[in-house]
Amino acid sequence: MRSILFTMIFSNKLITWYLENKRFLPWRETKNPYAIWLSEIILQQTRVAQGLPYFEAFLTTYPTVKDLADAPEDDVMRLWQGLGYYSRARNLHATAKKVAYELNGVFPPNYKELLTLKGVGEYTAAAIASIAYDEVVPVVDGNVFRVLSRVYGITSDISTNTTKKEFQALAATLIPQHDPATFNQAIMDFGAIQCTPKSPDCPSCPFIKECVAYQTNQVAVLPIKLSKVKVKKRYLDFIIFIDKDGNTHIEQRTAKDIWQQLYQFPVFDSFTHHVEDIDSALRERYDTLYIKEIKELTTDAIIHQLSHQKLHIKFWCVQIEATPSVQTRWEDLNKFGFPIVIHNFITSLDLKTLIS
Ligand code: ADE
Repeated sequence: MRSILFTMIFSNKLITWYLENKRFLPWRETKNPYAIWLSEIILQQTRVAQGLPYFEAFLTTYPTVKDLADAPEDDVMRLWQGLGYYSRARNLHATAKKVAYELNGVFPPNYKELLTLKGVGEYTAAAIASIAYDEVVPVVDGNVFRVLSRVYGITSDISTNTTKKEFQALAATLIPQHDPATFNQAIMDFGAIQCTPKSPDCPSCPFIKECVAYQTNQVAVLPIKLSKVKVKKRYLDFIIFIDKDGNTHIEQRTAKDIWQQLYQFPVFDSFTHHVEDIDSALRERYDTLYIKEIKELTTDAIIHQLSHQKLHIKFWCVQIEATPSVQTRWEDLNKFGFPIVIHNFITSLDLKTLIS
């Protein structure tokens, strides 16, 4: 491990870099734990540029934790549409209810108690506690793994818990007591802007002389992550039923699975293949359906990558005499939260071509 002197140099150089290069982000203008919590949940698995408009939309629609707690779940899910990892939105809503109604509207006041909230793990609790309350607790996210593994030349596998502890301990020696909020945000911005995963701009880096990875030509291989998630293929054939009056049929996904609580068209769902004979499959499932025409709307399957599943998606238009059971008017589809891939497909369709 490096000297105490380097420890001090590290945080000073990092903070100097930050003051010159930091991003203007709205949640940095406040100490309000609600806004900071909101930003951190949105930014889990989401890049800042993508998360920013969602942060603005949530804070405008729900200015307080009570406003969010009192919102219908469907509205929250619809506002979240496009961010992915929808369990974050459900946890967000559950936590808002807990804070509003069990904790008198007050967020837990420190790292340890923040950890008791749904959707708040070690990283998020550290971010909120340091940024909102100036508690001296280091964040360890993907950026921190990358920056520290490179500067310190750490070759441990970052997918293990032991390594995470190693990085937490190292970061704890680097974080200054007087301004943990700035340090934590500085290291995250440094990882996002300067010490990027691919092609970092090393010649302009303030740590060029100290960085072990740079000096030993290991920038491209650090950090080391051995366990790769296994990605399964999944084949979805969505059926857009439509009658002559422009009614369709949608359903809510309730199972503990991808896209829980979101809406979709009825689907044939398989981990091995697309439906081979759509006409027979439909007749088998809906024995009283009077089908006028079936059109395949996607010539090539749409590929949609989730963290653990690679979805192959086809859409079919099935014109029928009357839609099965509950009907939804085509124009009303925008009132429901759909997975983004379905939402985008609906937006690209013209009702007239479906009916004709
Ligand atoms: N990523 C997640 N939270 C962040 C923050 N507060 N600053 C910069 N990047 C982040």
